[in-house]
Amino acid sequence: MCFTKSNSLVRILVLLCFSRTINLSSGANTISASQSLSGDQTIVSKDEVFELGFFKAGNSSKYYIGIWYIKVSSNPPTIAWVANRETSISDRFRSELKIIDGNLVLLNESKFQIWSTNVSTTTTLKSAIAVLLDDGNLVLRDSGSNSVEPAVWQSFDHPTHTWLPGAKLAYDNRTKKSQLLTSWRSKEDPGVGLFSLELDPITTEYISKWNGSQRYWTSGAWNGKIFELVPEMRLNYIYNFSYQKNENESYFTYSVYNPFIISRFIMDVSGQVQQLTWLEATKEWNLFWSQPRTQCEVYALCGAFGSCSQSGLPFCSCLTGFKPRSESDWYQSDFSGGCVRKTDLQCGRNVEKLDFLTIKVKSLPPNQSVAVGSAGECHTTCLNSCSCNAYSFVDNQCLVWDGDLLNLSEDNDNDSGKTIFVKVASKDLPLSSKDPLHHKKSNWVTVCAVVGFGGVVVFVLGVILVLIYRKKRISLSVGKTRMVEGSLVSFVYKDLQIATKNFSDKLGGGGFGSVFKGVLHDSSIVAVKKLESISQGEKQFRSEVSTIGTIQHVNLVRLRGFCAQGNNKLLVYDYMANSSLDTHLFHGKQVLNWETRYQIALGIARGLVYLHEKCRDCIIHCDIKPENILLDAEFCPKIADFGLAKLVGRDFSRVLTTIRGTRGYLAPEWLSGVAVTAKADVFSYGMMLFELVNGKRNAEQSEDSRSPFFPCLVSNVLKMGGDILSLVDSRLNREASVEEVSKICKVACWCIQDEEDSRPSMSLVEQILEGVMDVNMPPIPRSVTLFVDNTERVVFFTESPSKGSSEVYISCSPQSKSTSS
Ligand SMILES: *[C@@H]1O[C@H](CO)[C@@H](O)[C@H](O)[C@H]1NC(C)=O
Ligand SMILES: *[C@@H]1O[C@H](CO)[C@@H](O)[C@H](O)[C@H]1NC(C)=O
Ligand SMILES: *[C@@H]1O[C@H](CO)[C@@H](O)[C@H](O)[C@H]1NC(C)=O
Ligand SMILES: *[C@@H]1O[C@H](CO)[C@@H](O)[C@H](O)[C@H]1NC(C)=O
Ligand SMILES: *[C@@H]1O[C@H](CO)[C@@H](O)[C@H](O)[C@H]1NC(C)=O
Ligand SMILES: *[C@@H]1O[C@H](CO)[C@@H](O)[C@H](O)[C@H]1NC(C)=O
Ligand SMILES: *[C@@H]1O[C@H](CO)[C@@H](O)[C@H](O)[C@H]1NC(C)=O
Ligand SMILES: *[C@@H]1O[C@H](CO)[C@@H](O)[C@H](O)[C@H]1NC(C)=O
Ligand SMILES: *[C@@H]1O[C@H](CO)[C@@H](O)[C@H](O)[C@H]1NC(C)=O
Ligand SMILES: *[C@@H]1O[C@H](CO)[C@@H](O)[C@H](O)[C@H]1NC(C)=O
Repeated sequence: MCFTKSNSLVRILVLLCFSRTINLSSGANTISASQSLSGDQTIVSKDEVFELGFFKAGNSSKYYIGIWYIKVSSNPPTIAWVANRETSISDRFRSELKIIDGNLVLLNESKFQIWSTNVSTTTTLKSAIAVLLDDGNLVLRDSGSNSVEPAVWQSFDHPTHTWLPGAKLAYDNRTKKSQLLTSWRSKEDPGVGLFSLELDPITTEYISKWNGSQRYWTSGAWNGKIFELVPEMRLNYIYNFSYQKNENESYFTYSVYNPFIISRFIMDVSGQVQQLTWLEATKEWNLFWSQPRTQCEVYALCGAFGSCSQSGLPFCSCLTGFKPRSESDWYQSDFSGGCVRKTDLQCGRNVEKLDFLTIKVKSLPPNQSVAVGSAGECHTTCLNSCSCNAYSFVDNQCLVWDGDLLNLSEDNDNDSGKTIFVKVASKDLPLSSKDPLHHKKSNWVTVCAVVGFGGVVVFVLGVILVLIYRKKRISLSVGKTRMVEGSLVSFVYKDLQIATKNFSDKLGGGGFGSVFKGVLHDSSIVAVKKLESISQGEKQFRSEVSTIGTIQHVNLVRLRGFCAQGNNKLLVYDYMANSSLDTHLFHGKQVLNWETRYQIALGIARGLVYLHEKCRDCIIHCDIKPENILLDAEFCPKIADFGLAKLVGRDFSRVLTTIRGTRGYLAPEWLSGVAVTAKADVFSYGMMLFELVNGKRNAEQSEDSRSPFFPCLVSNVLKMGGDILSLVDSRLNREASVEEVSKICKVACWCIQDEEDSRPSMSLVEQILEGVMDVNMPPIPRSVTLFVDNTERVVFFTESPSKGSSEVYISCSPQSKSTSS
């Protein structure tokens, strides 16, 4: 299937090139002096990587000259550069791109020059040509010059929203100007949008700005290896960033180690800098990294009087009583126009009855001024001032806003939010949002009702209920807890707050949020996980959670219920009496004997088989490590945190953050930008088996440079037929079965093979550990081979230069990686 498709694609491309060659009557990658390009004609780079021609953004009838990827079959094509961003043309057949007086220019329908390379005529080129190169660079040079000579003009020096590998993003010390990566205005308008990224030459940091001035994100300074505020870059083995500086310019440039990975950086219309890689298997761009991490951190994303909400899509909405300034822009995700009042206030003419909308925001909008007076006077001041749009009374100070309200993030769930009152026409306000006192009252009513109801239930129906709930093993909490989707319970936030004594007994933390111990009303003990930064709306969250709820297996921690109230998203799990595996292995809680360790290895394998093969959709855990293996009262292992990667969405940066701080369980493919499969879990499982045998972290082992990296040692002992029991945790005093230890060690070595295909599936692992299958002698994992042969110094673990403590990761150095692939 795939083959025929790409074959026919190549054929079409060849045909297209052929017809193009005729039209342009010369090299298909060049526009020379006597030629012009119009209509559907395009030029194609030598190896058919990029194509240049007219394209239409969205379904408007506006055309632009652009460069797009040929091998990326996205729909619409992925545009990497645009010439005439601000001035479109409508009839591409009557427009021309051609060389005039040594410049490449675009003429519109009436032969008017609407875009030009603008090279000053002093650099007169006898016969200029424009060539599209395979890296996506369009260069203008003398036809007689060879490709080594610098171009007179190149598109790489005039980036639009994309920063391609090989291009610079520079500061020019001669013109004192930074090259900007600027967002499109909307998905359908390549014009210059409000968000930009640029290099600060003094601090060597990249800065994201709104409207050329307001900063909202910075990468932190370059320390020679990474940008200081982008620690996840330490896990980057896709890009080779390098910094150059001379008297004329300073710049960063980057390349991609693996030539088969198609990758780009963009300043997205959302104001986020994004790093994307093309996944041919799914035919989509995979978001690999983005900053700022949450959408609402982008300054003024939703425009004036627009409000950003991290939970639920779309992120932007207009404040109550306001509507988008331009509906069509708004629906194309161009929020920059912001919102306007539904009813104009007709200030001074006393036509409209005025009122104030009360909202709670994360932080007050900028550009307020201070007025004198009490809260009441503040209200009156704003009411009587035509120019006043809003007021707030904080810390005994009256603040008023005359201009637009920007950068609003509504935050109704958080008591620390700040209250601001926005002036609107009375008739545009629903009753409930008018009076702040009204709000408070109703809150109290709810609380009382909940407590009261709980009390009644307990006192009157106590005995009966206890019996019923015991039987069904369903947790009862105070209030309006109800059942959804079979066995899952939907909890009320306040009840969980009570159950966990206001989240006071912390059991642990993790990439997705902290876990607290709680006691439900029926005295059953639970673990409550408070999720952080879930960008999903409540409905989607519920449906994802109910999917996780259906995943039940004796070796998986059971999800009992959840809570989704506004920004509060919590998951309620069974409590595990014996804590997590790492506490026993590394923190000396209780030494586990060999039989227990073997059963734990087998149990985890069974749990993973279930996740990988038995569920409706294959679930990749993505973060298998001892911290995520919980032990019940009988030391039966249960995998925790499965399915959560899905909850937090496809945002890879979140995953990068999660694995940051997790030592040495990462499969190499995590770092290479290709799609991750269930075999990534197999790798992590293998790394964990070594630790189960040894009772020490693989990572810590290697910190002492004289003792060999444990997986390498195991590999060596197996190969040489050495003393197997010497590998076992010394606390066990060699009390272990040689056969089982040898079996586990072999399995572990198979699991950590570099090539995914060489690693066994979890069901094969299960069968081997059950004794149904035999296991062959594993090949020494490639990265380990290098270590054992000692021909090359391989960095398995690199310590964080700044924090020094816990951030350690596994990988071979890029040099050895690129030579071996
Ligand atoms: C694109 O065109 C379709 C059909 O002509 C129309 O329904 C849709 O609204 C258009 N989309 C935009 C964003 O204008
Ligand atoms: C070509 O551009 C000029 C200048 O912008 C403009 O006045 C003219 O109307 C354009 N021609 C067409 C056919 O759009
Ligand atoms: C070219 O120069 C003219 C005048 O100097 C300017 O108006 C125009 O914007 C420039 N065009 C480009 C593409 O830089
Ligand atoms: C951006 O800044 C310019 C002045 O530099 C200002 O005229 C314009 O209104 C600003 N845009 C927005 C959306 O505030
Ligand atoms: C990274 O890029 C720099 C500059 O282009 C180059 O000198 C260096 O060899 C590259 N490193 C690797 C490992 O490819
Ligand atoms: C930038 O240019 C100025 C002169 O304009 C020069 O004094 C300075 O040294 C240059 N900066 C660097 C980093 O070379
Ligand atoms: C800086 O620019 C000058 C003139 O444009 C040139 O002669 C010199 O070689 C450049 N220096 C570097 C390091 O590129
Ligand atoms: C914009 O809002 C975000 C989120 O509320 C906040 O973190 C940031 O400090 C605000 N920026 C300014 C300049 O007020
Ligand atoms: C806010 O105030 C600053 C400084 O007073 C000014 O530069 C900026 O343009 C103002 N922004 C808006 C949106 O009014
Ligand atoms: C409320 O906001 C503060 C600061 O923004 C934050 O530290 C706190 O965790 C938030 N509380 C809740 C319940 O979300």
